[in-house]
Amino acid sequence: MDFSERIESAVARAVARCRDPAAPQRLGAAIDYAVMPGGARIRPTILLGVATACAGGRAEIEDAAAAALELIHCASLVHDDLPCFDDADTRRGKPSVHRAYSQPLAVLAGDSLIILAFEELARIGALDPALSSRLVLSLARRTGMPGGICAGQGWESEGEIDLAAYHNAKTAALFIAATQMGAIAGGQDPAPWEELGARIGAAFQIADDLRDTLLSVEELGKPAGQDDLNGRPNAVAQFGVRGATERLKDSLAGAIASIPSCPGEAALARMVQHYAERLSPVPAAGHSVPGE
Ligand code: IPE
Ligand code: IPE
Ligand code: MG
Ligand code: MG
Repeated sequence: MDFSERIESAVARAVARCRDPAAPQRLGAAIDYAVMPGGARIRPTILLGVATACAGGRAEIEDAAAAALELIHCASLVHDDLPCFDDADTRRGKPSVHRAYSQPLAVLAGDSLIILAFEELARIGALDPALSSRLVLSLARRTGMPGGICAGQGWESEGEIDLAAYHNAKTAALFIAATQMGAIAGGQDPAPWEELGARIGAAFQIADDLRDTLLSVEELGKPAGQDDLNGRPNAVAQFGVRGATERLKDSLAGAIASIPSCPGEAALARMVQHYAERLSPVPAAGHSVPGE
């Protein structure tokens, strides 16, 4: 099975656990809707790429870790789209969860997905209790406070926002979880893998800020121009399109250079390069290029 098949089946298995004829059916449907069909699944793909590069060979554990990470990401998008955050009507080319199912069900679907993610990791305890608890800790650290995505979203309620701290917690945190959980699942020390996740995450958020400015709703599958509309600090407002693009390139070059030595180092570098080439948004015809 390739990474994509492994991720889709692990995520589907996890979500199926939420379906029960005795449980509220609309909430079950909202949970499915939030996760499938997915987006790029980039975080679990990086996780499996790192685990494979580490030559761990424990597919069941790697797949559960990949599913857990993607479930947290999907939960974060459901909550991010709510009216109290970005008030976005669309996500992944379809109505956002609160638009399709109501705000109460979107809050509960996000909550359920967060719990489900940690349940996935707890289940690994039956195979390897020590590995399970290391994965739980790694994901928790990058999900909550003070350095996870809760902190990232929390910055938006502060008077002064430090762009680097905001991006690190909002976005890079889950990329660090991807590389470090991949290393843990692959039987390696996660510490040397933090830099790779941080650099990919920084590049990814800059690319997202560029896309938010340069691409259309149709191209994005979610609302465009949201950063300015919501008054969010972003790389384009701070550095201009050219400056942000330079920073994106620097982060990606640094990412590839930071890959720790491991059995599958060359293949992992090729994978990161492949994603890096697809990350830079091309200005759509007719779009003005602010900041130039
Ligand atoms: C969107 O992430 C949220 C950001 C951190 C910018 P993705 O672009 O990975 O979303 P999907 O999962 O592919 O829809
Ligand atoms: C989303 O960031 C990050 C989290 C959900 C933690 P954004 O609000 O910038 O992402 P999009 O543009 O809605 O995907
Ligand atoms: Mg947001
Ligand atoms: Mg948003």
